[in-house]
Amino acid sequence: MQKIIIDCGPGIDDALAIFLALASCEDIEVLGLTCVKGNVPVEKTYLNAQRICAAAGRLDIPVLRGIPRPILAQADLMATVHGKDGLGDIGLSVPGHFPETGTTAVDFILEQVEKHPGDVVLCAIGPMTNVAVALLFDPLLGQKLHSVAFMGGAAYCAGNMNDHAEFNFMVDPHAAEIVLQSGARLVMFGLDVTHQTRIEDSLLSGLRQNGNACSDLAARMLSAYALGDRHLHDPCVIAWLIDPTLFSGVQSEVRVVTEAGPDFGRSLARPDPQGNCRVITGVDQDRLVSLLLSRLAELP
Ligand code: RIB
Repeated sequence: MQKIIIDCGPGIDDALAIFLALASCEDIEVLGLTCVKGNVPVEKTYLNAQRICAAAGRLDIPVLRGIPRPILAQADLMATVHGKDGLGDIGLSVPGHFPETGTTAVDFILEQVEKHPGDVVLCAIGPMTNVAVALLFDPLLGQKLHSVAFMGGAAYCAGNMNDHAEFNFMVDPHAAEIVLQSGARLVMFGLDVTHQTRIEDSLLSGLRQNGNACSDLAARMLSAYALGDRHLHDPCVIAWLIDPTLFSGVQSEVRVVTEAGPDFGRSLARPDPQGNCRVITGVDQDRLVSLLLSRLAELP
């Protein structure tokens, strides 16, 4: 049983990743969701994480508000592909009451790692601002974590913000660089692998055929998302935890450009058996879709 914290900025593909994790109780214990300014402002990502947990019948999951802006970069870079509310504007209900935790995202990460030394997998599927600040608070955190599995960057392929930069890295490249230099065991799900995934009509129809509310919500959100981006970015991180054989990769040395200019947010990578990061470069798309369909059918 893997203990994970999902650091997220929901976000439609974040929502699918969270649904997948909550549907996989035999593999994953979700300790909490820490929210960051990502696809939409943190007030919305915090609320959206609560909406997703409520839809899955999991008001027991701690949801923590995180840092509202990147460490140094401009704070107004948003992703429009997720709609105004960040979840495709499909009218997903807002829970009337959600338990307050009384702590912050960074404090929650630090507390949980102290409580579960060596066991916590930090799944970062948005800009890594919370993760980086937690690493700055505790310079030994990288060794205390089991690992950091993150969606971000474009190691050996083009970006999605320009020729080079990927969105999560470009929103907060300074945070990404802090994580890359942390000494933690790192697994990178960049566009190298996520751009090999596709939101096909067969996935959408399969979700609708599941016949349960969460699968229908996922189909509606993904239908909206696919109008602007047909890739399953964030769910790859959770799918890897459930079945690592779905993926392949190469050990690499990865850094990110933090200087202003045309390469701002660009990943710099080279294969290196002693490198700081395993870059995931391959995925079995058919088995990934089968996993999503079978697991989401388990939700309410
Ligand atoms: O570049 C893809 C990433 O940007 C995903 O995490 C998606 O949610 C958006 O935030």
